[in-house]
Amino acid sequence: MEFFLDTADVDEIREIAQWGILDGVTTNPSLIKKSGRDFKTVVSEIANICAGPISAEVTSMNTEGMVKEALALKNELPENVIIKVPCTPEGLAATKQLSERGISTNVTLIFSASQALLAAKAGATYVSPFIGRIDDTGADGLQLIAEIMTTWEQYPSIKTKVLAASIRHPTHVLSCMQLGAHTVTMPTKIFRQLISHPLTDKGIKAFLKDWEEVEKAGHA
Ligand code: E4P
Repeated sequence: MEFFLDTADVDEIREIAQWGILDGVTTNPSLIKKSGRDFKTVVSEIANICAGPISAEVTSMNTEGMVKEALALKNELPENVIIKVPCTPEGLAATKQLSERGISTNVTLIFSASQALLAAKAGATYVSPFIGRIDDTGADGLQLIAEIMTTWEQYPSIKTKVLAASIRHPTHVLSCMQLGAHTVTMPTKIFRQLISHPLTDKGIKAFLKDWEEVEKAGHA
């Protein structure tokens, strides 16, 4: 079970990393744009905050360009940076070449079990089904996770991890884990929602108030 953050905001990553349960970070070109910072600088900073895999996405659309970008990223950035590749025929070929060189990949923008299967066959380290974007079309994103996990069960030799992405709410996280997804990547807001409960806050308040009385009575 792995929990990743889906952001390029280093302050948020620092905050969640302090909780001690952060396993990795995913970025994409839109998240880099949102950060307003230089791509390699921000990814490098993230990789120094979190020791787990940090996904950095290539933007070439041909295999040669993807591999070239990937090699440059691996050369210039910390060891724990892994290469995010789009799920296209060119992306599959790049994934295959990178996996043969021992470079970890995250095949992204997956919307069907067949895409996930081909990416696994190409040697992807992770496959990223985007469940929220499927929900946005009126279909059921969790159904895709279920289909992928059922397929994986038939082939125990598959080592590729299923990384549920495009998470919209805390229930998505729990459901993905119940379906057996290996990893979930989520925005900071969802990490915070997962830990918070009004009854926990209310309980702490009541315990602290009673403890004050215990102290006043000299019984602490
Ligand atoms: C995953 O790696 C992607 O960065 C991300 O989960 C996409 O989510 P979105 O649909 O909220 O943009």
